[in-house]
Amino acid sequence: MWTELDGLRDSAETRRISALFEADDVRAQDFSLKIDGLLFDYSKTSIDADAKAALVRLADVASVAAKRAAMFAGEKINETEDRAVLHTALRNLGDTPLVVDGQDVLPEVKATRERMADLARAVRDGSFPGNGKRITDVVNIGIGGSDLGPLMAVMALEPYGDGPKCHFISNVDGADATDTLAGLDPESTMVIVASKTFGTQETLMNARTVMAWAGGPDALERFVAISSAVDRCALFGIPAERVFGFEDWVGGRYSVWGPIGFSLMLAIGPKAFESFLEGGQAMDRHFCDAPLEENLPVLLALVGIWNQQVCGHATRAVLPYEQRLARLPAYLQQLEMESNGKGVALDGSSLERVAGPVVWGEPGTNGQHAFYQLIHQGQQVVPCEFLLGAEGHEPALGEHHRALVANCLAQSEALLKGRTEAEARAQLEEKGVSGAKLDQLAKHRVFSGNRPSTTLVYPRLTPYVLGQIVAMYEHRVFVEGVIYGINSYDQWGVELGKELANGLVPAMEGKGAPEGASASTVALLDHILGMRD
Ligand code: F6P
Repeated sequence: MWTELDGLRDSAETRRISALFEADDVRAQDFSLKIDGLLFDYSKTSIDADAKAALVRLADVASVAAKRAAMFAGEKINETEDRAVLHTALRNLGDTPLVVDGQDVLPEVKATRERMADLARAVRDGSFPGNGKRITDVVNIGIGGSDLGPLMAVMALEPYGDGPKCHFISNVDGADATDTLAGLDPESTMVIVASKTFGTQETLMNARTVMAWAGGPDALERFVAISSAVDRCALFGIPAERVFGFEDWVGGRYSVWGPIGFSLMLAIGPKAFESFLEGGQAMDRHFCDAPLEENLPVLLALVGIWNQQVCGHATRAVLPYEQRLARLPAYLQQLEMESNGKGVALDGSSLERVAGPVVWGEPGTNGQHAFYQLIHQGQQVVPCEFLLGAEGHEPALGEHHRALVANCLAQSEALLKGRTEAEARAQLEEKGVSGAKLDQLAKHRVFSGNRPSTTLVYPRLTPYVLGQIVAMYEHRVFVEGVIYGINSYDQWGVELGKELANGLVPAMEGKGAPEGASASTVALLDHILGMRD
């Protein structure tokens, strides 16, 4: 399979992407997919019909369909942790039983969601806490998957935010808590301590700091805890009626659909939250039912595989032309890089090809004025993924949205076509530049073009659409992981740093560097401690 794909890459390298358009009048239609209001255009990549067919076969041979069925059925596909992978159950609004370890898990998921909705409604209508001030602000304390999902979604759905204002504290850096709490009134602030394990150093430290700020243990009446280790929430002093649990088959970075999304539910209300779930569930249905070659998450994954594993492009830029998706790249960094940044296959063998691109990005148009220079003229190719809403939420500012769309389309066009030296010379000559100056300047104005990009167009960033987009990316990660042959659902790579940090805390209290610390770390510690005296 890979030899065939490598051969197809070699022939792709001998022609330009624009030549594919010249040879095929309907390439834009053939290499795009429309489903449920979304349009995914991958025609501006170097994938031709043969490459597409080979990539689809690759997915087939990797048993994507069978593994997808196993995931949705609750089989323990997270083999290194002996767990099912069932975040899809959190957005499963149907009644068909989903049995894991002999038990239908859906009634419990539904009951928890209803308890969350009851509390969210009470906060939003002012009947909670009942005594004292009405809740105007919510502080979510969590990190990684217990922060990035709700933070990204609350920001994305700001136009639907008719509840309390949500704030997020994640970093152990005291600056985060200090700056976030500044100006908030503890008596009108609800605090959510969100941690799957309820053992994360940063979150527990921030929770203690915020509890002290809120007035000590009495303030716990405005605290909510979210975890799959509910016994630990009780130890922290948060009573069971405000503890929302979830099972260990929900990975942290896949958890925004359930209790971890409580801040989002508070912000937009239970009804809009359900619409977010419906969007995710609709994407699940499409992912399960559509043939591989017409399957959005599968195609997105195959484009990723082609760009990285076949063509060797090490990074992937996510470029939402939607300011409210400003945290989507950060969210996807965790989703994709914590899931697929691995070097070992499920059977323990080393991977032959590098898995998991570096994911990065910023919203357009801001990125254009920062790093697009490298994307257009740098020597490394950066496959770009544009996201764009056909409509915005500011009809009174239609001019802005028209400019936004124009910029997005212009960027993918520029990446595709580039500018030849002859074109650059003609432009300069028109401006009256000639002679040696012309020779010198023209070279700097050449754009190679022929750079791959995809564009996802959605109607408008509603809760439903956000649900579709997030579920689409989750399934993309799954498909890529299956093709890499890895377990996308563990994250052992984050452990070593945590262990070493625990060992270094006493050193920061002047108790000496841990045994075996490198000379560099010992010297850095000495220097830092010396500066603090
Ligand atoms: O350190 C990585 C990680 O375990 C992530 O996978 C997770 O989302 C994050 O830490 C936070 O973990 P928790 O929700 O258990 O506090």
